[in-house]
Amino acid sequence: MKFLASVAALGAMAVSVSAFVFPSEPLAASKYKPNDIMNISWTEDNKPPLLSSAPIFNIYFMTGSNLVQTKLATVAENVDPSKTTSVPYKVPYVSPPGQIYFLYFETKDLKGQAWATRFTVTDELGTAMPTFDPLTNPGGNGTIVTPTPKPTTAAPTATGNDANPTATAAGKSGASTLTASMSVAAAVVGALAMAAF
Ligand SMILES: *[C@@H]1O[C@H](CO)[C@@H](O)[C@H](O)[C@H]1NC(C)=O
Ligand SMILES: *[C@@H]1O[C@H](CO)[C@@H](O)[C@H](O)[C@H]1NC(C)=O
Repeated sequence: MKFLASVAALGAMAVSVSAFVFPSEPLAASKYKPNDIMNISWTEDNKPPLLSSAPIFNIYFMTGSNLVQTKLATVAENVDPSKTTSVPYKVPYVSPPGQIYFLYFETKDLKGQAWATRFTVTDELGTAMPTFDPLTNPGGNGTIVTPTPKPTTAAPTATGNDANPTATAAGKSGASTLTASMSVAAAVVGALAMAAF
């Protein structure tokens, strides 16, 4: 019984049945270097709990496959969506770099769960290092690492940083694709319900 319950719970997570936010950053095309500031942001996805009910939530930095997800870090706790629509996050050093990192949003009452799809964290030089194809092998399992100290002469002051391309929702993959379709379905249902009045 316990095993079946766990499988059911993980299945539910994989398809984002109870999403409450629709992440607008990061997206699949988002690419960050360590120490870049990710502007985590979201919109209402019209599934309960609605953001207007101010569900307090936490955000986690994640890796792993859809079914075996690993929390690598807590990004933010007690976020109140009635007070903010974004959370800045300093991107950590990771190993390996690649498109194997994602975010998990979870309400404090555990009723709302949402995911931001896998985005890329590069190495310090901005090398993407495509360690795997997220569409065919969504099992990349990364770690957060401590950078090796540098000689004081090598101050890594990057100018002209283009590591945050403006992404469109078209590049989404995996669980977020399902989230997107379900949101569209919910919007259609909502429109029909309104038309009935
Ligand atoms: C972060 O995202 C929010 C919500 O979209 C936006 O209002 C804000 O201007 C963004 N901040 C930066 C620094 O881009
Ligand atoms: C993924 O890595 C974490 C450590 O970061 C480890 O605890 C976990 O067992 C790994 N998962 C898999 C499926 O290898």
